[in-house]
Amino acid sequence: MKIGILSSGGDCPGINATIRGVGKTALNHFGMEVVGIHYGFQGLLNRNYTPLGDKKLSGLLNLGGTILGTSREKPFRQMLESGDNEKPKALIKNYKALGLDCLVCIGGNGTQKTAYQVSQLGLNIIGIPKTIDNDVFGTDITFGFDSAVHIATEAIDRLHSTASSHNRVMVIELMGHKAGWIALHAGMAGGADVILLPELGCDIDKVNKAILKRSKKGKPYSIVVVGEGLKLDGIAGNPASRLSKQIYAGTQIETRETVLGYVQRGGSPSAYDRNLATRLGGYATELISKGVFGQMVSIVNGQITSLPLIEVAGKTKLVTPDNDLILQGERMGISFGV
Ligand code: F6P
Repeated sequence: MKIGILSSGGDCPGINATIRGVGKTALNHFGMEVVGIHYGFQGLLNRNYTPLGDKKLSGLLNLGGTILGTSREKPFRQMLESGDNEKPKALIKNYKALGLDCLVCIGGNGTQKTAYQVSQLGLNIIGIPKTIDNDVFGTDITFGFDSAVHIATEAIDRLHSTASSHNRVMVIELMGHKAGWIALHAGMAGGADVILLPELGCDIDKVNKAILKRSKKGKPYSIVVVGEGLKLDGIAGNPASRLSKQIYAGTQIETRETVLGYVQRGGSPSAYDRNLATRLGGYATELISKGVFGQMVSIVNGQITSLPLIEVAGKTKLVTPDNDLILQGERMGISFGV
């Protein structure tokens, strides 16, 4: 069999470990041929690819980013907007020209939706979920998330000493798109005093009350973690800078903000992410060897499994208010701003 592999959407730690997991299992165990497609679906449209042999698959386990490059190309957009089906036709043509038996698509929500659409063209597809945001439906965890949480937790740890030295409120904005997984997990691991999640929203009076309560108890500094997707007064975008102004206005405590940004998704994957990537990649190859297609591989209750792409496409996994970390945090006096 000959399989193609691509990475699409934002990069994250663990993509190269996945390419290695798929590629080495395919080559060594199943005797398959592997082709790497550059820059996501754009590469399949342009026939931009490289054969992946043993040499190209070495040295990838701890390497950040993606050796294949990535793009946010959405090959079905034009067809849905204007009926122009040139790109879907090119995908079929090039898949056949490359002699592929399956295309492995590593990506987040958008990619899994596209993977489903491509599978509807009659091509054999396997999806592998990835994103620091951890918001892909149908899997308990995506690789990239654990690495991002480590980076964000270290950043929060470092803010504690400067916050307490200056008696300031430090607001730190973390990535996650519309989901608050990174903010919740890094906020709790970093000992934040206030954690604001897009899913829960925020009442600024309650945030200020929590900060003033700490101040009255002799703790005149606070750490506020906010997920980038939080809407303040119904408006999205730049929550940290808007929040810090509203906190200062409501508490008169000096406030500073930090937007952690892209360091959260750069660099080497954590050990957990490397092993998750390896397991998902190996399982994807096993499914292909059995002729099982149209699935996304996933991890559920610690077990590697898969589910039909149709059940994933267009859905998002968000934090729910009954999350155990929220419950434990609330009991300990951490404010979630609601
Ligand atoms: O999905 C990962 C992510 O890093 C989000 O957390 C963030 O909102 C987005 O990608 C930014 O993506 P880019 O700037 O690469 O389009």
